[in-house]
Order: sequence, then structure tokens, then C-alpha cells
Amino acid sequence: MFLNPLKVIPRRALFTPRFLSSKGRKGSEWGEGDEKLEAAVTKSQEELDDCVNASSKTCEEVPPKLKTVRVYRWNPENPAKKAHMQTFTVDLNRCGSMVLDVLFHLKAVHDPTLAFRRSCREGICGSCAMNINGVNTLACITKTSTDDKPLIIYPLPHAYVIRDLIPDMGHFLEQYKMIDPYLKRDDKGFGPGTRQTLQSTRDRKKLDGLYECILCGCCTFSCPPYWWLGEKYLGPAVLLQAYRWIIDSRDTSHKERLAKMRDYYSVFRCHTIFNCTKTCPKGLNPGRAVAQVKRLIAGYTKKEEPDFPPEETYIDPCTGEPQIKC
Ligand code: SF4
Ligand code: SF4
Ligand code: FES
Repeated sequence: MFLNPLKVIPRRALFTPRFLSSKGRKGSEWGEGDEKLEAAVTKSQEELDDCVNASSKTCEEVPPKLKTVRVYRWNPENPAKKAHMQTFTVDLNRCGSMVLDVLFHLKAVHDPTLAFRRSCREGICGSCAMNINGVNTLACITKTSTDDKPLIIYPLPHAYVIRDLIPDMGHFLEQYKMIDPYLKRDDKGFGPGTRQTLQSTRDRKKLDGLYECILCGCCTFSCPPYWWLGEKYLGPAVLLQAYRWIIDSRDTSHKERLAKMRDYYSVFRCHTIFNCTKTCPKGLNPGRAVAQVKRLIAGYTKKEEPDFPPEETYIDPCTGEPQIKC
């Protein structure tokens, strides 16, 4: 790939008089005491020449930065071939800096049959969760290290594999559905959507560290009890989400939610190992959320009353009128 040398202008040169607005002086209009400034401009011109020469190098002239990449492969359309690790050698100068970029490069240049999930490429959708060098994380926000060690990529551990790096998230999402991940509220006869549901700043703050969860599943698939009892144990991601709705001051069904999880497996299989918190690529603390759910179920703590109880009438902050049914 060739860069256009005429478009390459050193940053410093942009701030010299030559590139200033019409109020700046042209090169020939130097006055007394301007020698230093002129020298700076001349130097910038030299730098510009150096830069033009450097940018005319082709990719072939830049020494390659080779990296060994080992990727888990399994294709259900070819069941006779067992799951295996395939080794590639990639020139890191020819792809972007993140692990997801390396995977795109492998798919585009080396093997178009390589399968992996991705969507947003900026750590928001949670689709590119995989095990990279032994850590469950998001490929799109993980930088590829340039050291000599190979880059080793597996699908999320202990998940059924659909193909290559694509785990089966069906059961995980079924469990998510089980906790009713939406606001449940007794509207005292007002009917849904007919009255604003207010929340104080203090109550809103309780959701920080919970609402940011993108359901990537990195924590759940790093949790040993979930590996062994995933059919019955809900796992840290789903429990963090459950806790998010339980402590929401606007939700009035926390007792029902807690009662649904009061059994031997759903919550209490957590042994507080905190693998989940260690691995969360969004920096959340699902281990703490699980512990809080346990405390609520066991009665060691209670959900606080909301700052704005649902039965009261509030003054509309815009009109100053009491809120009424629309
Ligand atoms: S808590 Fe973190 S690791 Fe777990 S699903 Fe949410 S974002 Fe992913
Ligand atoms: S703290 Fe609980 S939920 Fe988190 S990894 Fe350990 S056992 Fe799993
Ligand atoms: S592609 Fe969306 S989180 Fe990585």
C-alpha cells in the first residue's frame, strides 16, 4: 500500500506561519528578530522532506512482524475430523492491532472457512467473547501482544461449540430469560405507560456497575461451579442481571424474584472464587452481585425502600403540577 507523500505534513509544520491563516505572514515577510521562527520553519521543511522519503517505502520494504497464531477449529459439516488447533503465521504489519483484527486477517487471507462471532468491534455487543491466551475476554478490545509467544485462541471454555470459535449461548440466554429481565411494577391501577416512574439520583446510583453488563458470558464460562452444574446454577452474568432488577427502586417484584431463586442450585452453588470478577472485560464485579443476592435470599439484608414510593403523588419538575394519569 502506498501513502500519498503530498498529504503527509509533519504536525509541527502545521503550526508554523506558512500554514497559519491569512493573518499569518508568508515565508518572504520575515522581520527583525524572526530568525528563530524562520529556522523553525526551515527545519520543518527538512522534516517534511524526510517524511516524504520515508512514506514512499512500500510494505514490502518494512521488515515483517511475524506472529504465530493457534486457533481452535471444529467443523460440524466434517464430523470425521476431530477438533484440533490450527497454526497460522501472521505478519502483524498487515493487520490491525487487536485480536479481532488478526482473526479478520486470517479469514480474509489464510482461511475463509474460519468462523467467529463479532458485530460492534468496540466492546459493546459482547459477541466476540472467546478465550485468548487462557483468559475469557473480548477479542475486539484485546491488543495482540508483539512478543515471541504464540497467540492461542479457543472458544469460551465449557460451552458447547457450534463451529470453530462460536459457542452455543442458547442455554445461557434461556437462563437469562428465566429471571424476567425487565421492569415489573404494580402501577396501582394507573396502567403501564400512563404515568412517569421517577427515580431519585441516589437510587439510580445503585445501578452503576450493573447496567453496563453486555452479557458477553466471559464471567459465566470462567466459573467452575457453572462448568459442572450449569444446567441448574444460573451463573454470575445472569445473577448480576437478576440483582440489577431486584435492587432497582422502580421494580416492585423483588420478593417474587428472590423466591424464584430460593433453592439449592440457582444461586448457592457460587463458592465465591471470584474468577468471574477477575475476567470481566468491562471491569464489573459479578462476584459481589452474586454475594448480594445470597444475602437478600438468606435475609441478612433487605432491599431499601425507594426514595419515591410508588403510592405517592409527585410534583412534575417541569410544570410544578402534581402528576396525574394521562
Ligand atoms: S458481568 Fe462482565 S463478563 Fe459477565 S456478562 Fe457482564 S460484561 Fe460480560
Ligand atoms: S464468585 Fe461465584 S459466580 Fe463468580 S466465579 Fe466464583 S463461583 Fe462463579
Ligand atoms: S465485536 Fe462487539 S464486543 Fe467485540
